[in-house]
Amino acid sequence: MSEDNSKPVNKEVSTDGTSKDSSPKVKRARTTSRAKQGSRARITQTKPSVKSIAKPSFNVEPTTSFVRNLKGKRPIVGLTAYDTIMASAVSQANVDFILVGDSLGTTVLGFDTTIPVTIDDMIRHTAAVRRANPHCLLVADLPFGEASLSFDRLLDSCRRLMQQGGADAVKIEGGRDVADDIEKLVATGIPVMGHIGLLPQTVKAIGGYRKFGETKEEAESIYTDAITLEEAGCFAIIAEMLDQQVASELSRQILPPLIGIGCGDGCDGQILVTTDVLGWSHGQVPKFVKPYLNMNKLVSDALDKYVGDVRLKKENP
Ligand code: KIV
Repeated sequence: MSEDNSKPVNKEVSTDGTSKDSSPKVKRARTTSRAKQGSRARITQTKPSVKSIAKPSFNVEPTTSFVRNLKGKRPIVGLTAYDTIMASAVSQANVDFILVGDSLGTTVLGFDTTIPVTIDDMIRHTAAVRRANPHCLLVADLPFGEASLSFDRLLDSCRRLMQQGGADAVKIEGGRDVADDIEKLVATGIPVMGHIGLLPQTVKAIGGYRKFGETKEEAESIYTDAITLEEAGCFAIIAEMLDQQVASELSRQILPPLIGIGCGDGCDGQILVTTDVLGWSHGQVPKFVKPYLNMNKLVSDALDKYVGDVRLKKENP
């Protein structure tokens, strides 16, 4: 799957992967004989209408089995959301899943890392996203420290994300270190999405954000993590900042879909942080992100205009 989605799409692709040409057919305007004579006759013109351009329609179902079974059929696409309005926009874009990531710490709460994000923050924001009634799967991130205290604490935090936040599944950072607990959670009925490669919650321990899997030892360690998470029952695994070749090979080797972020285009799907995609951010955006909009500029221009209009006593249109 390519990260460049900007090419115009004019094939109608059905969920079984088949495609048929649905390029918009622009009808030539019929000219009546009266119009030809230059009389006052009305000329009926058929303009190419935006509505007539068929959008590829992809079926989306809000279940973990649906997402898992997409592997090998079509690329899976996820985006993050942190509040009702953002979730509503993301859901309307017909993503396969929404992640209420603990990236909310850096994107909307103003922290430098995800470490200060608490379980109460995650529940509040997950519940806000749930109130948008997204029609896709809703996954909530388990924040820093919640998987480390005891299994009871972990179970309780996951329970709260689902019962109070309305999440369909939880995402947990880590590989073989958390696999036993994930197996028990899955047995309890808590669907778990894994997360390997760069684990932002360990940023203080690893000393910064970097690529993973570039050495043979690290690549092997990542394979072990992924296989262990597969055996633990993860329905999908996020791979962050993995070496592109390692990520592609890994996605061929494991059964659950590998959903990449900053891993190139060889995974079973992609997820990005929505504020990065929209250019709506107050911090640094990772180099691998291709912004689709400059929201910072749009908003700043609009707000400047509003403030200027009020000061000049112009009417608010
Ligand atoms: O918190 C988050 O948004 C994430 C994504 C970067 C995968 O974990």
